[in-house]
Amino acid sequence: MKDSYIGVFDSGIGGLTVVKEIVRLMPNENIIYLGDTAHVPYGTHSPEQITEYALQDTKFLSAFNLKAIVIACNTVDSIAREAVDELCNVPVFGVVEPASKVAANTTKNGKIGVIATNATVNSRAYNKAIEKYNLKAEVISVACPLLVPLIENGQFKKGDTVTRNVLKEYLDPLMKQEIDTLILGCTHYTLLTEMIEDLYPNLMIVSSSIAVAKTIKASLPLSGNEQVDRRYFVSNNVEDFKKLAQIFMGEVLTENIEQVQLG
Ligand code: DGL
Repeated sequence: MKDSYIGVFDSGIGGLTVVKEIVRLMPNENIIYLGDTAHVPYGTHSPEQITEYALQDTKFLSAFNLKAIVIACNTVDSIAREAVDELCNVPVFGVVEPASKVAANTTKNGKIGVIATNATVNSRAYNKAIEKYNLKAEVISVACPLLVPLIENGQFKKGDTVTRNVLKEYLDPLMKQEIDTLILGCTHYTLLTEMIEDLYPNLMIVSSSIAVAKTIKASLPLSGNEQVDRRYFVSNNVEDFKKLAQIFMGEVLTENIEQVQLG
């Protein structure tokens, strides 16, 4: 019998930043990825709609033999975590908690910036999670609704002037408030790490994608597969996803990509 999979889902390409880290830290794991590209971005929808999408994604993944589910989407983790937990009979890993813990322990001056989708910011999930680890921390959040569409359009390379200007609009006010640590509270934003480092070299950047992969490695019994099986599913055009995935994943092959109907 085939070894079980780690199931990972997001609204689009953003969750691949989590897959990339899982592959780097746990190269022998089988992985199933679902990107609900027909409905991206989730972050501008109502909590009810986001929960409905999250449950569809979870049901799709649950048809496979899973050892864990990873909510590679801050928006879903902030809004629909309980609903996903209720549906799953395997361990569920989310992104908000691990990133909050890292940021709370990283900040020197106690001022933590969070950039995320509208839904994540409105949920205050990061404020609540950070408070658990650092009572004194001041959390300054900003919703960045323009970033996910730009990233899904492939505009995440360091030199992209449009995305650079948009980022400055969002981040300059946070820098004026003297944040020393910034949480990339949307898995898509991990793709902007180089650009942000280039703009603000002294800022400490915490990627929710990297933080969750480390937590998974510390918590799950790991597999020893010599030949791994990695499969990718999307709910919209395969070719668009493939192009972006290949630019981004580089050496990690993403050949097994299929389009599926959710719901
Ligand atoms: N990558 C997602 C997140 O972490 C979702 C972005 C979106 O679909 O709006 O929030």
